[in-house]
Amino acid sequence: MKKITVIGTGYVGLVSGTGLSDFGHQVTCCDIDEKKITALKNGQIPIYEPGLEEVIKRNIEQGRLVFTTELAQSIRSAEVVFIAVGTPQSDNGEADISAVLKVAEEIGQNLNRYKVVCTKSTVPVGTGQQVSQIIRENSNGSDQFGYVSNPEFLREGAAVKDFLWPDRVVIGADSERSFNIMKDVYRPLYINETPIVHTTIATAETIKYASNAFLAMKITFINEVANLCEAVNADVHQVAKAMGLDGRISAKFLHPGPGYGGSCFPKDTNALVSIAEKAGVEIATIKATIAANQAQKQRMVDKLRKLAGGDFTNRKIAVLGLAFKPQTDDVRDSAAIIMLRELYAAGADVTAYDPVAAESMRALFPDLNCADSWQAAVADADAAVIMTEWNEFRAMDLKMMKSMMKTAVLLDTRNIIPPADLERLGFKFDNVGRQS
Ligand code: UGA
Repeated sequence: MKKITVIGTGYVGLVSGTGLSDFGHQVTCCDIDEKKITALKNGQIPIYEPGLEEVIKRNIEQGRLVFTTELAQSIRSAEVVFIAVGTPQSDNGEADISAVLKVAEEIGQNLNRYKVVCTKSTVPVGTGQQVSQIIRENSNGSDQFGYVSNPEFLREGAAVKDFLWPDRVVIGADSERSFNIMKDVYRPLYINETPIVHTTIATAETIKYASNAFLAMKITFINEVANLCEAVNADVHQVAKAMGLDGRISAKFLHPGPGYGGSCFPKDTNALVSIAEKAGVEIATIKATIAANQAQKQRMVDKLRKLAGGDFTNRKIAVLGLAFKPQTDDVRDSAAIIMLRELYAAGADVTAYDPVAAESMRALFPDLNCADSWQAAVADADAAVIMTEWNEFRAMDLKMMKSMMKTAVLLDTRNIIPPADLERLGFKFDNVGRQS
């Protein structure tokens, strides 16, 4: 059992801290946001993440998980300090690591005994050196710490599972001592034979960006193939399925859609381009991915406009799904944002429905008209568009939908409704790379 402090209770910090306490460690989660910490102490979870609440409650009850705003004390009491504060995108595309560097100062000032300082936040290659230097400067040149880069590979909506049953754990460590302590932290995973990949710090930092950028590129590739399928009368689902059967390609992340979103892929692809530019290296594939993804989001708007007769003015449009993917209330860089922006700009009358993300989207569109069911959203609509593949949209009664809408027009940007069903019922419809 290790005494661990996790600084930052955003997505990564909260899930990691909770997961580490579930491994049996004594974990303190620390944040400067007093309201958030008070809520967490009372078992109120600030994000929608399936399964998280239950694991938090269990570990609070068993005394392994505590929440605090006392940063200095929680650093001093820990053997391992995880840095999990935000690294948002700054105006020039780079990750803004000011919060990470601020935490490094605090760690330096409270370095009372040997600690492993481990960064979980996604930070540009080279940040490890900067953090180590700041800790040294703030602790009179002490070397009583080992720096580790331990990137996270959690998916929102599946984060608890991803933390407790990861595909791999990457540990970039500059000393055997710190690597061995980190191995102990992840020891409970040995039972599943999870690979622990030991690398240098710069390599671990690069693995994180390369992984996310590759997945973003893979999605973008299949999106472009889907667009080609539309032009040559092929079916992208069959193409993707057959491609995925090749072990070198794999079936995952080959699902075409309206363009990737979320808090990671858009930010990390931009950051990778900026890291490469600084290093004087051309990274053409990722630049192309970013541009093609933007075009894909716009393409969905053009498809809907065409289906709706060429103009959105005064047309009643139902937007089904706002989150950037299902099982989350996160709308950051969601394809639905571009859709809503263009619909409003063209004077459409929009009613949206999302089972959990309506409030998050209202932060961006305060006047957004939200219904509390898909039925209410599509009532009397001229056209509907599915933007997120929530399960409840897969199970929609299409006959009922048709009878409720003014005209049976549906754009399925997630390819969750069988085209044959829409055809049989007489819908005017479109999707991404299947028949329309
Ligand atoms: C992503 C990675 O999958 C995680 O491994 C990583 O840890 C995380 O970023 C991060 O850096 O923190 P996440 O952003 O939660 O996780 O979501 P994904 O499930 O990867 O989906 C991202 C976007 O791609 C969504 O908009 C989703 O709809 C889209 N997508 C995904 C597709 O369009 N097609 C696919 O086949 C898969």
